[in-house]
Amino acid sequence: MQRVLVTRVLPAGWDAPLRPLVDRGLVEIVGPQPNDEPYSHSQLCELAPTVSAVVSLLTDRIDESVLDAGASGSLRLVANVAVGYDNIAWRHAHSLGVLVSNTPGVLDDTTADTAFMLMLSACRLASEAERDLRAGHWNGWGINQYLGRDVFGSQLGLVGYGRIGKAMERRARGFDMKVVHHCRTPSGAPGFIEDLDELMATSDVVSLHVPGGADTHHLIDARRLALMKSSAVLVNTARGPVVDESALAEALHSGRMFGAGIDVYEQEPVVHPRLLTAPRTVLLPHVGSGSHATRSKMAQLATSAVAAVVQGETPTNVI
Ligand code: GLV
Repeated sequence: MQRVLVTRVLPAGWDAPLRPLVDRGLVEIVGPQPNDEPYSHSQLCELAPTVSAVVSLLTDRIDESVLDAGASGSLRLVANVAVGYDNIAWRHAHSLGVLVSNTPGVLDDTTADTAFMLMLSACRLASEAERDLRAGHWNGWGINQYLGRDVFGSQLGLVGYGRIGKAMERRARGFDMKVVHHCRTPSGAPGFIEDLDELMATSDVVSLHVPGGADTHHLIDARRLALMKSSAVLVNTARGPVVDESALAEALHSGRMFGAGIDVYEQEPVVHPRLLTAPRTVLLPHVGSGSHATRSKMAQLATSAVAAVVQGETPTNVI
């Protein structure tokens, strides 16, 4: 009997790939805790060596000590229910022979929808206008009220040109936007800009679609924010630490840039206090892939990796 730790309550249908193995008595599911209480770091260290796989969320910190503990026992896979895996010390996992899987492919369109929504909302001041209306501060139509930036016909700069970046590009074409992109390896596709600074300086909207982690930490810093047009908008649905949040808050407060649409933060769930008060800024609580259908697909993709590993196979979605 192999044990599988599921750290949190997952969307309905999450266990479909594992159910036949559970029914045959081959797999026992451990967790989640009552009331969906997160496991502490020391609980994770204690449980990791007793299971073959951990199904984790991006809020679970699977660091070197969890992995060392796991590898000293039976741990063979960490299946993250997310496309990002910056919560996992994955290089260390590799060195220990522990596999790490993620959920690519199933959340691209939902996440691009979120990025597009943030772009539209930030450019057209949707949050500010709605806030005023709900607070009873709207006294009737005015020709100079809530004047935003046109999205159609403007230039969208994609930083990162993977599946989600490309899904964003498809949407932008329908809005008659000019789309350019930057990525580390030349894409060979039309619109490629080798110099990120040039993309920052020429785009009306910059949308981030790079992975998190050390390689992209503060990729968008004060210097790069200062390159943006004063009419430009930044959208981040990637990972919080890709942007220097305090520099962004400063740029927004000073009017150096028009606005921002942000879904991810440097210290989630803490949001930089200056960002909370920044003008022309739409803030969402990390809902990028948040549709019923997509979250179910992500959970099932993660547990299908577990099903493969417990049967001695290699999952297709290992990183
Ligand atoms: C969400 O942020 C994910 O990485 O899937």
